[in-house]
Amino acid sequence: MPAPLIAPSILSADFARLADEAAAVAGSDWLHVDVMDAHFVPNLTLGLPVVESLLKATDIPLDCHLMIEDPDRWAPPYAEAGAHNVTVHAEAARDPRKLAKDLHAAGALAGLSIKPKTPLDDWIEVLADYDTLLVMSVEPGFGGQSFMPEVLDKVRTARRLVDTGHLTVLVEIDGGISADTVEQAAEAGVDCFVAGSAVYGADDPARAVAALREQAAAVSPHRSLTTRE
Ligand code: DX5
Ligand code: ZN
Repeated sequence: MPAPLIAPSILSADFARLADEAAAVAGSDWLHVDVMDAHFVPNLTLGLPVVESLLKATDIPLDCHLMIEDPDRWAPPYAEAGAHNVTVHAEAARDPRKLAKDLHAAGALAGLSIKPKTPLDDWIEVLADYDTLLVMSVEPGFGGQSFMPEVLDKVRTARRLVDTGHLTVLVEIDGGISADTVEQAAEAGVDCFVAGSAVYGADDPARAVAALREQAAAVSPHRSLTTRE
């Protein structure tokens, strides 16, 4: 297992300067790209053309989080374009098992996300086909919201399923991750931490990424920074 992964969310970056904002977090493991369609969530951000441009502008693997309706139709093109991981919402997918296969066939990892009130238990079987589980720790739609610690029970369950060999997903968390919350998430068993406002709101975003990684590694019982470097 690698060191904790940190994925800055460009939702909190300056959308007019995305190439520079990607460069500002050099050393990040993944770059988290929030795609919102103003239907699945009450906000509108960016889509495939911007992701295609971003792929040319950075070497950081893109972690596309699709908060959209009908991901069965719209998600595979992000994989075809070259996104490293393409995450769809369980609540929106019509045939999530087929969708995972389509994402794999297009060359990406497949991620499944669940909103704070969505039970994990309903999706455990489906997760056998997925590479990442994105546990939302805020209601999706906006950056800068408060972390919901009650979702950590789902993280603990997922961690246990992975550690006992029942699932092979990487456990990712998204929403309200900061210096104040990253440790409790790491203790619960998160592998990959998305952080928007805590990174892009910092004076030195790259330093904020490194600091979050160090904090997470220090309290992660099952992995350490030394396995990565
Ligand atoms: C919210 C997005 C998050 C958002 C997190 O719907 O999925 O990725 O950027 O922002 P922070 O880290 O500020 O809570
Ligand atoms: Zn996100």
